[in-house]
Amino acid sequence: MEKAIFVGGGGPDYGEKQGLTLKYANRHGLIAGATGTGKTVTLQILAEGFSSAGVPVILSDVKGDLSGLAKSGTPEHKLHDAFMGRAGTIGFDDFSYSAFPVTFWDLFGEQGHPVRTTVSEMGPLLLARLLELSEAQEGILNIAFRVADEQGLPLLDLKDLQSLLVWTGENRDQLSLRYGNISVASIGAIQRRLLVLENQGGAGLFGEPALDLADLMRVGVDGRGAVNILAADKLMAAPGLYATFLLWLLSELFEELPEVGDPDKPKLVFFFDEAHLLFDDAPKALVDKVEQVARLIRSKGVGVYFITQNPGDVPEDILGQLGNRIQHALRAFTAKDRKNLRLAAETYRENPRFSTEDAIREVGVGEAVTSMLQKKGVPGIVERTLIRPPSSQLGPITSGERKAVMAASPLAGKYDTAVDRKSAYEILGARAEAAAKEAETAEEAAEELEPVFREFNAGRRYSGSRVTRSTSKRTRSEPSFTQAMTKMVAKELTGTTGRRIVRGILGGLFKGR
Ligand SMILES: Nc1ncnc2c1ncn2[C@@H]1O[C@H](COP(=O)(O)OP(=O)(O)OP(=O)(O)O)[C@@H](O)[C@H]1O
Ligand SMILES: [Mg+2]
Repeated sequence: MEKAIFVGGGGPDYGEKQGLTLKYANRHGLIAGATGTGKTVTLQILAEGFSSAGVPVILSDVKGDLSGLAKSGTPEHKLHDAFMGRAGTIGFDDFSYSAFPVTFWDLFGEQGHPVRTTVSEMGPLLLARLLELSEAQEGILNIAFRVADEQGLPLLDLKDLQSLLVWTGENRDQLSLRYGNISVASIGAIQRRLLVLENQGGAGLFGEPALDLADLMRVGVDGRGAVNILAADKLMAAPGLYATFLLWLLSELFEELPEVGDPDKPKLVFFFDEAHLLFDDAPKALVDKVEQVARLIRSKGVGVYFITQNPGDVPEDILGQLGNRIQHALRAFTAKDRKNLRLAAETYRENPRFSTEDAIREVGVGEAVTSMLQKKGVPGIVERTLIRPPSSQLGPITSGERKAVMAASPLAGKYDTAVDRKSAYEILGARAEAAAKEAETAEEAAEELEPVFREFNAGRRYSGSRVTRSTSKRTRSEPSFTQAMTKMVAKELTGTTGRRIVRGILGGLFKGR
């Protein structure tokens, strides 16, 4: 018998053990069901099962109730008797309570260790999605990234991106020659979207120290895999940020992890709660990318499990890749509900004992219609399964308990303080400052040169061709001289920003008044 995570009991009396085979756990999965049918508890028992098998997991905690994984269940819990009864029904004789090695993470750095990435790691495609940019705006973002690359400007935080965009705007004439039209309006629109992201608290996501993926993949000395819980309650207010962040994490894992083929058990399992947020209004290019990443990440030993109310929320190409399925009850109030239910039922291998469609409608809370991949990765016949009770606490822990877990974490301190390394913002700022200083020096030099000017102009006056106002402090001069001066000063300066500023200041200086 291949090693499996115990999920619950099936068969006529729920006495037949049902499991998720570890060898096929990287072939992805789906947990679906209407609200209140048991999805979160199912996620909890799967996380427990993977951790016990030495597989680290990442999951997002949308309502805060998964924090209970950090604490052992107890006989004092109000559902203790219900749990014992359920364990008896499904023949779960060695059911016991236990806590799991939880690490809390939080994009806002409040309910867990801060999670950060850099702007350049996120890349223009995901950023454009995050900022909901139009195609034209995305094009400009691409140019800005290109320019940053060429000029060796590190893009770490939002400040870097903002100053790079300002710079791109200032230099749009030259850049347009190479990359095509760069409109000020589009740059302004991107800047405004960045402000919205900042107001949503997104600024904290970008910066350093950036998340080290190895910190998500820890296995303890006791052999249990880390349970990484991402606080997502507040994050839900910014669904775009939530979906983009998880997608970034997924693509990052895909890029960083080595090929492992089909391992005995996954290297990591990723649970994507409220998965519909990823696909709502997503452009085809993005859905294609998710489909592609899901298909390829399997050979890196990463299993991805989507959790959503209706399986119809997941695009067909992706749904087709979700081999392990736990379908809790679906409602059938409207004609549309019934159609969805029928479509969901059609994707399973029929069990002669019951109709799949009826079962999906009828299963009780904490019960599900399941189909797991079996020998050779073939989907098993559909089964009505009573899901096992959790070993960790059902329901959230207190904020005090959470703080204690965070303080005891081996990662405590590693990410807590943001580091603001020298990057695009500082470099461009320094360049502008240097340019301003040079311009000042040039002005002073010009003042010193004033007697020379006067003499020069006096010479001109004698020739009688042009009269200069002798009262004027700064005198009009011959164009060739002006050009020479400008060139001389400008040559001292590096960077186009510097040159632009010089042009501004010196222009005024030499044009006279
Ligand atoms: N496997 C289980 N064993 C024992 N009780 C369960 C189990 N699954 C669900 N329950 C009971 O059902 C309740 C609701 O389950 P759960 O919170 O998982 O639903 P949900 O589908 O996540 O709902 P929502 O969509 O509102 O998040 C639990 O609080 C618990 O009392
Ligand atoms: Mg839930």
